[in-house]
Amino acid sequence: MCGIIGFTGKLEAKNILLEGLASLEYRGYDSAGISLFDNGKIRTIKTAGKVTNLVDKAESSGDITSTCGIGHTRWATHGGVTDTNAHPHAHGKVTLIHNGIIENYHELEVELATAGRYPISQTDTEMVAMLIDSLYTGNAIDAIREAIKRIEGAYAFCILFADEPEVIYCIRNASPLVACHANDGSIIASDMVALIPYSKDYFVLPEHHIARLTKDDIVVMNLEKEVVVPKMIHVNWDVTAAQKGGYPHFMLKEIFEQPESIRSTILPRIIKGDLPDFTVDRIPNEIFEKVNRVIITACGTAMHAGLVGKAMLEKLLRIPVEVDIASEFRYQDPIIDKNTLVITISQSGETADTLASLRLAKELGATTLSVVNVKGSTIDRESDYVLYTQAGPEIAVASTKAYTAQLSCLYLIAFKFALIRGTITEAQCGAYMKELKAVIPAIEKTLTLDKTVEEISRGLADTEDLFFIGRGLDYALSCEGSIKLKEISYIHSEAYAAGELKHGTLSLVTEGVPVIALATQAKVYSKMISNIREVRARGAIVILITNGDAEVEATLYDYHIALPAMNDFFTPFSSAIVLQLLAYYTCVHRGFDVDQPRNLAKAVTVE
Ligand code: F6R
Repeated sequence: MCGIIGFTGKLEAKNILLEGLASLEYRGYDSAGISLFDNGKIRTIKTAGKVTNLVDKAESSGDITSTCGIGHTRWATHGGVTDTNAHPHAHGKVTLIHNGIIENYHELEVELATAGRYPISQTDTEMVAMLIDSLYTGNAIDAIREAIKRIEGAYAFCILFADEPEVIYCIRNASPLVACHANDGSIIASDMVALIPYSKDYFVLPEHHIARLTKDDIVVMNLEKEVVVPKMIHVNWDVTAAQKGGYPHFMLKEIFEQPESIRSTILPRIIKGDLPDFTVDRIPNEIFEKVNRVIITACGTAMHAGLVGKAMLEKLLRIPVEVDIASEFRYQDPIIDKNTLVITISQSGETADTLASLRLAKELGATTLSVVNVKGSTIDRESDYVLYTQAGPEIAVASTKAYTAQLSCLYLIAFKFALIRGTITEAQCGAYMKELKAVIPAIEKTLTLDKTVEEISRGLADTEDLFFIGRGLDYALSCEGSIKLKEISYIHSEAYAAGELKHGTLSLVTEGVPVIALATQAKVYSKMISNIREVRARGAIVILITNGDAEVEATLYDYHIALPAMNDFFTPFSSAIVLQLLAYYTCVHRGFDVDQPRNLAKAVTVE
């Protein structure tokens, strides 16, 4: 939510900021803006709309000669999408950008008004510019320290002080900021994707620490003004990983990257005898020994991965596994003790509700294990143990490769856990692991269905409502298929446990309503066929997905997608690919923005 970038150094800053904002745009695309020191004075250019609007405005704003500035791309929280509400916000000597939410902005507004200071925007952020300016008497660090004592909420700020050209100050609480100093200067941003053109090594600005960026270095200090040296992190991907690489959209590229991301997630964790091994992850066997209950908590697609994880864990371990939506879990009174393992799942590692759930679980004494994609993210740093998904940067707002990499990790956890608990033998575990490896060629084969799925999705382009139905693992996949379609194609859809449809919702299935029926599980296959008959009898258009080329009465479907034949446990991977492609092509046929769907943003760092 909101992308932030700051650069000071030897290079022309304007282009660095605009290019950085383009790479961070997936975090918010309601408005964008930059502020630059130009001949010692701060110049601000900002506009509602996407970064391309800002690029046009910057081009028509005359020459700017600057080697220091800050930039922002906004996901609106307080105040509508207008030029005035776009960041940066300036007051007196202070110009700043913000990612997060200031919860006590109204109290600040009242307080500042009594001192004769009034905002011109409707944003919470402007209160902080006013507050810092009101506290500034010539020492930037002191003003920031004082301001922070008065601010409640989540924030990452990059701040320019008119008196200190070429210097950027930053501070954060909860919202992410990563930084690096490279040959040409110092750079800070919300996400590593904006730093990667300059360095593969970076650090996460610790919370409640101030960073002072100059062209020569970055000094980090705590609120007592003691200098600290943050731990450096290395990434093993390069700038091409964050580019479209010839694909029309990031989402399609990321769908096609899945064989590789699953390979990178699974293969390094397999030892002799095809057994799972978490030595490189430093996850000791002991954490699985005492557990008598598992809770999985996450949001959205990551939570849907958890539903598949639950099925696998319960089947192999015979211990209760609960899956909770993180925004609900954090305000409930969860039953947790020291024998509970809480697994949080997050691509970004910054999702506010998932992070709060992790913190609550730790407070209540659980052991925490997180499945995270972004190294150095808050969930990564605060979890007892972490299993990284090796999906690389995921830029499209709709999660695809992170989801199947999360599934890979959950399968590994289930096999390892069951082996340690003795509920499966080494031979059984090795056999499961072989099947997991076989998912990679199966996915490659599923991707060859691309054109078939594109053709089918053409028929969905004018649909307003549709259903996904399935049983067991297929129900978990239906949930994922439904969210994917909704978020990018704006078609209303519902995921239903196929047996539940007739308990009310079947009344919505009328002539011509599309029903995507997943029937990949042999155990409930005949039940699914009966459910398909029920919707067919009401005139539904049925798109049927089966495991292998099952023989199905041709009158029962309009389209049939046969996944490569595989063990039923592993169909979620291939089903996910088909559902992702279906959502993707439906969105393309409807002419919407695939990578940046309306109202959404990646990395939801607010509640
Ligand atoms: C949907 C999607 C979201 C995220 C959710 C959690 O395609 O991307 O539902 O899965 O916001 O995000 P992370 O995994 O970053 O915690």
